[in-house]
Amino acid sequence: MRRVFAGTAFALVGAHKFTLTEDSVPIMTTLPISPAAPDSASGSPDCALARSTAAAAAALGGVGIDAIAFAVPRSYLELTELAAARGVAPEKYTSGLGTLQMAIAGPEEDPVTLAAQAAHRVLRASGRSPAEIGLCIVGTETAVDHSKPIASYLHGLLGLPRSCRVFETKHACFGGTAGLLNAVDWIAAGSARGRAALIVCTDIARYTVGSAGEPTQGAGAVAMLVSARPRLVELEVGISGSYALDVHDFWRPLHRKDALVDGHFSVQCYLDALAGAYGQWRLLADEREPLARTCYHVPYGKLARKAHQLRCQLDGRDDSAAAGPGSFAVEVEPSLRLPAQVGNIYTGSLYLALLSLLYSEAAELENKRIGLFSYGSGCAAEFFAGRVRPGAAALIDAMDVAAPLRDRHRLTIPEYEQLRQNDLHADQRPAEAIHAAAVGQGPLTLDLESQRQARFCGIDPKERRIYSVQ
Ligand code: HMG
Repeated sequence: MRRVFAGTAFALVGAHKFTLTEDSVPIMTTLPISPAAPDSASGSPDCALARSTAAAAAALGGVGIDAIAFAVPRSYLELTELAAARGVAPEKYTSGLGTLQMAIAGPEEDPVTLAAQAAHRVLRASGRSPAEIGLCIVGTETAVDHSKPIASYLHGLLGLPRSCRVFETKHACFGGTAGLLNAVDWIAAGSARGRAALIVCTDIARYTVGSAGEPTQGAGAVAMLVSARPRLVELEVGISGSYALDVHDFWRPLHRKDALVDGHFSVQCYLDALAGAYGQWRLLADEREPLARTCYHVPYGKLARKAHQLRCQLDGRDDSAAAGPGSFAVEVEPSLRLPAQVGNIYTGSLYLALLSLLYSEAAELENKRIGLFSYGSGCAAEFFAGRVRPGAAALIDAMDVAAPLRDRHRLTIPEYEQLRQNDLHADQRPAEAIHAAAVGQGPLTLDLESQRQARFCGIDPKERRIYSVQ
């Protein structure tokens, strides 16, 4: 069953798809791509190591994503309204960038509350208890403290075991992938001892109001349970193409809430990184079976379109709709439907694309191989692959995947601009005395049976962040 999205979102996605298919994209790649895997590569020490890690994972029944869920703030902005306010043609945002709506965080929502919501949803969907988690990694570039990680707040809010390894990873949008691949290695190495890893990618993407980056904002979190014998996607363990280069394409100095970016250069860096990581992956991977679908990091949908064109060019194949199964509409578009309604969520963006793909057509993809491309500015990238597990569709159907997008508040432009102004002081506002007094009485815990959610109340006199559960 191919799932289509109801209402305006579906209609607009249809328009977006058409325009993207019509576009021609100049490829800016400057780096040479490695040729398809030569026979001799399979005998290299790298390949031998990859094979032994893969064998360890296979002995465990495979390692990968057992469950996945996302969370977004309660409010969003229509990009057509933002375009009108900025004096820009609406098609520039909806087709030129490929984004329809951006999730916008309110004062009681922050990367901790978003992470907690996504984690709460994934634990409920998986049927696992917090006691089964042995590793909790939060990937983020929206840290709330230079020292205390979001993972610690999450540990308290979820009631994770004290014997759990807990930390935060940062490398721009690559931070979540760093966490995921770390968890896979932890399981393949035998350190998990039957436990699962909880990986949460959480971010609020902010650029200066009125800047070129403004329509590429967003906010949200994606949580994944990673385990042996995964029920959704088994990853090809040990087989991953990496790429890194010291570039200043996008950065956020410690004193700033909104990011600075060399926008067009960042697009070139992303595509160069794809060429590099994909070339490395091809040296290691089994190329006999083509990738049925590929999910890309999605700062905005149009860039996934450009990425797909580049990969087709590197593979020497036609990417046009006329080329049938090789086309963007088949291989990539279903993965862009949820991101188009949320915007860029940085670390979680690739995994929201994966969830969008599974939500759209998990049944068709069971036993099929899919590619994953993660990019983090600065920069680091990785290309890897996995296989959708038999039975994945039933699990996805049992989840109310799109629930976070229902009943959201549509912001007016003045409401949005006021929220952005308040952002400046959100981290310093004093919590009400009643909440501040609760610190030291032990962590508040989200009950898996209830729908109660964490909210950020402000800070206490010692500048500790205070959360309540309501
Ligand atoms: P811009 O200069 O305002 O836009 O900024 P543009 O003039 O390049 O136009 C964008 C597209 O809209 C173009 O398509 C236009 O042709 C088209 P393209 O040529 O690229 O195919 N267009 C129209 N289409 C239809 N109807 C119209 C129309 N007008 C124009 N009327 C830019 C765009 C992306 C640079 C800006 O929004 C920006 O700086 N965004 C932030 C940076 C970003 O997202 N970079 C992505 C790569 S880096 C990355 O992914 C990492 C990141 O996630 C951070 C991290 O790792 O932590 C960002």
